[in-house]
Amino acid sequence: MRRITDLPKVELHVHIEGTLEPELVMKLAESSGVDLPYANADELRRRYVFTNLQSFLDIYYDNLDVLRTNHDFSRLAYEYAVRAHAGGVVHAEAFFDPQAHLIRGVALDTVVDGLVDGFARARSDCGFTADLIACFLRDRPVREALETLESLTAIDAPIIGVGLDSAELGNPASLFTEVFARAAALGLRRVAHAGEEGGPESIRQALDDLGAERIDHGIRSLDDPEMVARLVAAHIPLTVCPLSNVALQSVDELARHPLPELLAAGLHVTINSDDPAYFGGYAEDNYVLVAAAFDLDDATLADLARNSVRASFLPVDRQDEVLLDIDRWLADAHPT
Ligand code: HPA
Ligand code: ZN
Repeated sequence: MRRITDLPKVELHVHIEGTLEPELVMKLAESSGVDLPYANADELRRRYVFTNLQSFLDIYYDNLDVLRTNHDFSRLAYEYAVRAHAGGVVHAEAFFDPQAHLIRGVALDTVVDGLVDGFARARSDCGFTADLIACFLRDRPVREALETLESLTAIDAPIIGVGLDSAELGNPASLFTEVFARAAALGLRRVAHAGEEGGPESIRQALDDLGAERIDHGIRSLDDPEMVARLVAAHIPLTVCPLSNVALQSVDELARHPLPELLAAGLHVTINSDDPAYFGGYAEDNYVLVAAAFDLDDATLADLARNSVRASFLPVDRQDEVLLDIDRWLADAHPT
């Protein structure tokens, strides 16, 4: 078997703020003089025991306090890119949460310019590329999301699309219909978290009310065979994050993850990391661990990587290049 590290893959579901490793939290806190309620990175990491999405979000938002300057955001993006690239990720469509920074008093251009700078440095150092998707926080007011979209437009932020994240339960996607309609009018791509903790109705709203082109997570689609049939027929990709689902107890152990059912249903499944600094692994680790848990062969792993390429918003010529590299990976694994 060829190493999964070498399998070229695209990451479609990673929150750049969720790549903030405890060690980087400590370093950034030190450089900006932020007082932290724990002594070291290990002590912080020991707090990463989650019971559901909200228990994770509470710590995730708290840790953002150390991200203040353009340089901090640049370092965050750069360190993620280098690490993901070492695990075979050639391109990422990375989420960021503008509102989570604006409400802390960090200017939008500080965030955007920093991330762009970090990804540009990674591109010139190792060839890794990234696009940005701005996510709206579904547990914040709709008006704030609309204002954030206008602010992104005003600074000409180089985003390729918009998403919807944060607490799914009790915060229906349908509230954000106008925001996503405006994004579509601006020519932006649309994705949304749905079916992580919420059921098929949450996915239906993401599709019908937001015009989502991909569903982030979507594992609960399996609760409704009609929704599964609809996703298959419309070729809507799911950005599945196995280690996240286990860490947030949507699934009780990896061996019981519904990945085999999703694949058997003919869904366009991709494998991603979500918040790798919190959930125990980057994209590569998710591939490695599901391969072991379900005894996936190289052809299936190559199919999952192909799915990630085809589900991306990359131009077709770049998609074709990566697909050829995946073919080469598979051919090297099984020479004729
Ligand atoms: N789910 C929903 N919202 C999020 C997540 C997640 O895993 N990570 C950051 N925001
Ligand atoms: Zn997510």
